[in-house]
Amino acid sequence: MIELKPRVFSGMQPTGSLHLGNYLGALINWVAMQKTHECIYCVVDLHAITAEWLEPEELRQSIRRAAAAYIACGIDPKSSILFNQSQVTEHAELAWIFNCVARLGWLNRMTQFKEKAGKDRENASVGLYAYPNLMAADILVYRGTHVPVGEDQKQHLELARDIAQKFNNDWREAIVAKGYADGMFFPQPEPIILGPATRVMSLRDGTKKMSKSDPSDLSRINLTDDAEAIARKIQRAKTDPDALPSEPKGLEGRPEADNLTGIYAALAGTTQEAVLKEFGGGQFSTFKKALADVAVAKLAPITSEMTRLSADPAEIDRILADGARRARAIAHPILNEVKDIVGFVRS
Ligand code: TRP
Repeated sequence: MIELKPRVFSGMQPTGSLHLGNYLGALINWVAMQKTHECIYCVVDLHAITAEWLEPEELRQSIRRAAAAYIACGIDPKSSILFNQSQVTEHAELAWIFNCVARLGWLNRMTQFKEKAGKDRENASVGLYAYPNLMAADILVYRGTHVPVGEDQKQHLELARDIAQKFNNDWREAIVAKGYADGMFFPQPEPIILGPATRVMSLRDGTKKMSKSDPSDLSRINLTDDAEAIARKIQRAKTDPDALPSEPKGLEGRPEADNLTGIYAALAGTTQEAVLKEFGGGQFSTFKKALADVAVAKLAPITSEMTRLSADPAEIDRILADGARRARAIAHPILNEVKDIVGFVRS
């Protein structure tokens, strides 16, 4: 029997700049998983052209900036594979095959498409609609088994599982003939949603996700913000007039208090309960000073490493090229097997 190795795959779009939400919601987990798994991390530039297009030079800069952020946060491009999606054409090739596996009805249920397309659905790109099929291909072209993602990607992961299962079922005979006795050519990739602050909310409104598209820069802490900017944004973060509660149940109906103490816990590597025990009963102003201190201590080294890397785009391009070469070495033989299973002639 052919054994499936555990393999982590995840990706993030290069549009805009990365912020605290990306760090605590995703990157911190990506970094941690390097210790225990083989990891493949991808800047998903093919996904980045499904909605508004950036100027070509701006897109290139964003791809490099995303790669720099991953490295600055602790992704080791030697032990892990770090690359940009468009350099490994196997993703797009498998996505086409998955376009023919997934059903319209499945994609019609995707809430992210509905949100992103909004009222003007007729004018959304076909790529935006088929986006989840490409995402499934990203993972399955490596036969990825574990996918650290944010809460909002769960539905897309379910779709990837459905695609894997339908592919395995529909081509079962060919798959078994290839030596997969149990018919499991593609694994069922599992979402890994970890961390106390998987949902980091806006600093201006504790009910909205921290987002790179929020027009107010005060709503988020960017990974490029310097110590002064970080402290200022925390100082000006929205709060409510009451003192902090001493227990998590006191956070009900207080989204800003919940968000800020959650961020503190995640940055300090402790629990929200412990944070509330320490700061409960106190004023927000005292807590905010402490929060600014941990945030600066944690994020300042990331910012300075990003600045250092950004000064040398050629070095980033070399890292991405090396990652792409190693990614292709895994994806190419898997895609060849898919071609055999489906019945394409290849040389
Ligand atoms: N859709 C993901 C997001 O917006 C990014 C992504 C693309 C991804 N391909 C992926 C995440 C594969 C995990 C695995 O966050």
